[in-house]
Amino acid sequence: MNLKLKFLECQKKKVEEIERILREFLPEEEGHQKVIMEAMAYSLMGGGKRLRPMLMRETYLLFSGGEERPKERRALHAFMAAQEMIHTYSLVHDDLPAMDDDDYRRGRKTTHVVFGEDMGILAGDALLNYAFETAAGAFAAAGCGPAGDLAADRPSADRLAAYAEAEKIAASLQILSRKAGIYGMIGGQVIDVKETGHAVPAEVLDTVYALKTAALIESSMMIGAVLGGASEDEVRTVEQIARNVGLAFQIQDDILDVTGTAETLGKPIHSDEKNEKTTYVTLYGVARSREIVEEKSREAVRMLKGLPGDHGYLEQLLLQLIYREK
Ligand code: IPE
Ligand code: IPE
Ligand code: MG
Ligand code: MG
Ligand code: MG
Repeated sequence: MNLKLKFLECQKKKVEEIERILREFLPEEEGHQKVIMEAMAYSLMGGGKRLRPMLMRETYLLFSGGEERPKERRALHAFMAAQEMIHTYSLVHDDLPAMDDDDYRRGRKTTHVVFGEDMGILAGDALLNYAFETAAGAFAAAGCGPAGDLAADRPSADRLAAYAEAEKIAASLQILSRKAGIYGMIGGQVIDVKETGHAVPAEVLDTVYALKTAALIESSMMIGAVLGGASEDEVRTVEQIARNVGLAFQIQDDILDVTGTAETLGKPIHSDEKNEKTTYVTLYGVARSREIVEEKSREAVRMLKGLPGDHGYLEQLLLQLIYREK
């Protein structure tokens, strides 16, 4: 089998595994508030590339010796699910009438179109909150909740190991919250909304992309690195790699908004024009934007080569994103 086919097959398996994990962490659909659980499942399980949980896991594997360590497995999965919940909430709110006002996402009607605007807002809120509920569960999952290995009557070697695990989970929670918030994705969406309908200077646009899109990719890869046991310096390098990946990803998203098709993308094209957004395409044109996507992606791959572990799959993934059509 040729290398590309092998990669695609491997990727398909990985996406299926991630979807199984996401389903596991979704809440039961029950109670008088059942509709909100249905709206959460509708938006979360409605397709999507699953790039962020995939990047988290692949970065983890670089530092963990290529395997999911049994004790950490459930904690890693909890963070993968939490990250995709936060990303999905950002899409649900991004599509609302008050924001980009788009009716299609991931190949089907947007959450607010199906469930109403009120439930659309609440489904986004619910995914955001449930993400942190899920991620906080990582302590107990790794045995380092108060009743687990941290308990005072445990042998001290167990307790020391549990402290190390608890520290990694606490650091991951901090990264997850910071990168999703006012210094990350929400901050970027705020500037994006404010800077609509008029010319935007290039450095402001770069800030928007670094925050609204790169921040969640940074947290995905950084949390993978932290849980895998990377040093502080390595986590900083991972952050820079992810910044490049995230910027390239948003620029390619801008390009596809002009050159793509709604069928392939699963979301409407010309949304940026409709909303009078300044984008890389309006500032630099499609051809130059494509070059920049390639430059930033190749820079990410170059930096990745300095990290430990087997980066074959991750490198191919980053290169694939340059030419993605959805
Ligand atoms: C869309 O993200 C929003 C951007 C940051 C450009 P994705 O293109 O990763 O969307 P899904 O998860 O595959 O639907
Ligand atoms: C949104 O950017 C990024 C988010 C934080 C949701 P876009 O508005 O360009 O994303 P799409 O094109 O709707 O997916
Ligand atoms: Mg938007
Ligand atoms: Mg949008
Ligand atoms: Mg877009």
